[in-house]
Amino acid sequence: MNNVMKSGLKLSLASLFAVGMLGGCSSDEDSQAPQGSQSSSGVTAPAPSQPKVADVKPAEPVAMPKMEEAEKAVADKVEEVKQQAESEAAKAVASAKTGSMVYNTCVGCHGAGGEGGVGPKLAGQAKDDIVMKLGKYKAGEQVGPMTAMMQPIASGMSDEDITLVADYIATTFK
Ligand code: HEC
Repeated sequence: MNNVMKSGLKLSLASLFAVGMLGGCSSDEDSQAPQGSQSSSGVTAPAPSQPKVADVKPAEPVAMPKMEEAEKAVADKVEEVKQQAESEAAKAVASAKTGSMVYNTCVGCHGAGGEGGVGPKLAGQAKDDIVMKLGKYKAGEQVGPMTAMMQPIASGMSDEDITLVADYIATTFK
């Protein structure tokens, strides 16, 4: 029956821990943990289990006076990166937009193949012609008798939308 007393060890561990907390700001000193002693005489003695004081890290870093500055710098950087990302995303969305996507809103009146329906036939019209006409509707000019139907549509289109869809119509619908 080899009873090792451990209750005393727990107590000393706790006090050593407390000492470590109080003493260590930047103490990175190596622990002087004793090596397990292996006797060469055949009998292997178990290493005495001593608490390693140096392994116990201080729970919280000491608050630095420059924390506020650092936080502001980080916040500024975050904001900068965010804005950059947003403008990149906006560019990506703009460039991902295709004439085919824009034309989806025209299909109901001009037909899936630009063959016409409620609105006139668009197939076979030149790109410049389409751009010019859409520009007129957008500007509120009278084009044909049913300008009132096209005007609100064109006025909601950006110049890029107009170029994209005109190019799409002219190259897709012959
Ligand atoms: C609500 C139905 C409707 C929708 C949707 C519509 N159009 Fe029109 N569109 C018309 C009508 C009607 C006219 C004829 C207007 C007139 O009398 O000037 C017309 C005329 C046009 C013309 C002039 C054609 C010509 O030869 O004079 C073009 C170009 C045109 N539309 C392009 C488009 C494009 C591009 C879209 C989609 C972005 C679109 N339209 C969406 C009804 C529509």
